[in-house]
Amino acid sequence: MKIIRTTSAMADWSRRLHREGVTIGFVPTMGALHEGHRALIRAARLACDAVVVSIFVNPTQFGPTEDLAKYPRQLRLDRALCAKEGVDAIFAPPVDAMYPAGFQTIVSVPSLARLWEGEARPHHFQGVATVVTKLLSLVHPDISWFGQKDFQQAALVRQLAKDLNLPGIVRVHPTVREDDGLALSSRNVYLSAEQRDAAPVLYHALQAGAAAIRDGERRGAVVQRIMTRVIKTERSVTPEYLAVCDPSTLEPLPTIQRHAILLGAIRLGTVRLLDNMPVAIRHKS
Ligand code: PAF
Repeated sequence: MKIIRTTSAMADWSRRLHREGVTIGFVPTMGALHEGHRALIRAARLACDAVVVSIFVNPTQFGPTEDLAKYPRQLRLDRALCAKEGVDAIFAPPVDAMYPAGFQTIVSVPSLARLWEGEARPHHFQGVATVVTKLLSLVHPDISWFGQKDFQQAALVRQLAKDLNLPGIVRVHPTVREDDGLALSSRNVYLSAEQRDAAPVLYHALQAGAAAIRDGERRGAVVQRIMTRVIKTERSVTPEYLAVCDPSTLEPLPTIQRHAILLGAIRLGTVRLLDNMPVAIRHKS
């Protein structure tokens, strides 16, 4: 398994493989790899001849009061997981390779970044859009994989790749969960034992919202109240947002017609957790 540290070596490696007719699958990450990432790597392994995983804790997507300094970094463990999964190359550049002195360009996808995570974390999505543009341009994958757990990020990346004709197809892989429903996230390691016990309430709230829609509820505001009520059963959990949205625009849906995405974010102490659940209404014929 090759460890690539510079942008030029990354681009050269990819060009060489493409010349040899090798297809490249790409899994962009910030490291602290878990079973969710493993699922993305396996999907890439199945679909492409070679797999690249990037491990880069991207500073531009963290706000000044966020957890950049303490974000889990564990390259040795990540390397072992990648080697076990047959990854061909890890792209792990230092910060100044991605953002050399004089770096200026910012990529933004204003309307998809406006609400939800965009409101809670101003500039977060500009950082994501900028780094993903750079990564896709350097790695030049045939297919890249993003996790559905970060639904808004995945929607934004799809739009970005389409608008800027970035290389490769973007695929979104279903969320991987613990047995009790908690969506896997690198930030779960921050949870205390008590918080970990309470955390699946977000999944339960989304399930309750989806069940209400399946039972015929069509008013977005009512579904939102049902989800909030479930969250409030856990006193240590603060809801940040629970929303019923149009899956393509992420705007709130007053009335659910056919498809909706239920989005949720909660806070447990200083830890923020996200999750979502797509809902499709089957009209009886
Ligand atoms: O989801 C992540 O891990 C990051 O936001 C990404 C897509 C690797 C960009 O830094």
